[in-house]
Amino acid sequence: MKAIVIGASSGLGLELAKQLAANKCHVACIARREDRLNELRTQFPEQIRTYKHDVKNYAEVETLFPKICKELDGLDLVIYCAGYMAPVTPNEFSTTKDLEMIDVNLKGAIAWLNEAAIRFQGTRSGTIIAIGSVAGDRGRQAQPAYNTSKAAIATYAESLRNRLSSSGVKVITVKPGPMDTEMTHGLGLSNMMSAKSAANKILGLIGKNGEFYLSPVHKAIFYIIKRIPSPVFRKLKI
Ligand SMILES: NC(=O)c1ccc[n+]([C@@H]2O[C@H](COP(=O)([O-])OP(=O)(O)OC[C@H]3O[C@@H](n4cnc5c(N)ncnc54)[C@H](OP(=O)(O)O)[C@@H]3O)[C@@H](O)[C@H]2O)c1
Repeated sequence: MKAIVIGASSGLGLELAKQLAANKCHVACIARREDRLNELRTQFPEQIRTYKHDVKNYAEVETLFPKICKELDGLDLVIYCAGYMAPVTPNEFSTTKDLEMIDVNLKGAIAWLNEAAIRFQGTRSGTIIAIGSVAGDRGRQAQPAYNTSKAAIATYAESLRNRLSSSGVKVITVKPGPMDTEMTHGLGLSNMMSAKSAANKILGLIGKNGEFYLSPVHKAIFYIIKRIPSPVFRKLKI
């Protein structure tokens, strides 16, 4: 199998890349932190290729994507895992922070996954995995723009799935709950899933088509949360 993982230098993306490489997959790993990527390549020199790229550099994708496909000599799987959650205080409305989250979590995903869609539509094969979040299921008070970016990537991925299903292309949306990664360090969250366990569950979804939570508990909780009327949800402050 040949794969591209965007956002592979830490947390979930790093684990996905490691697990794919350990299963003899050839993986193109993308992120900004070159030192982290180099460390990963040293661990799996036969399986891992690395590409330094900032997902906000949307114009670069048009040339980088075919270059990677050529160097991998094929492509079966693209995982968009790059993500950013800025620290936002309860009364803060920072356009700079908010737009950064939209740029990384949504616009970068569109740039990469449109290229994946074009290629896979042509080959009539392939799997796209978009990493969303349970945070996209409601407009919560704490993180308006992060929530929006994750709701939007889920909608975008659903549209891709509906467009591409007749071509045999699978599009999987994953909605993890809290995971123990650099993104959540210092937030004081409990009951977090490890990146290793999350990556393992995500790779187990390959072959399916649709939207998935990573635990049955989250699936049940968010089934209810999505149906709480807005005035009630506002009072709950969750
Ligand atoms: N942690 C959670 O609780 C949680 C829950 C639900 C969903 N998620 C989602 O899971 C995904 C992975 O996050 P994580 O928890 O593993 O966090 P993480 O450890 O902070 O990883 C974020 C990854 O995104 C990459 N990235 C960020 N900005 C980038 C940019 N401008 N250009 C290229 N790459 C960029 C980072 O690479 P560089 O910094 O090296 O560029 C890194 O590889 C994200 O989409 C996140 O929203 C996380």
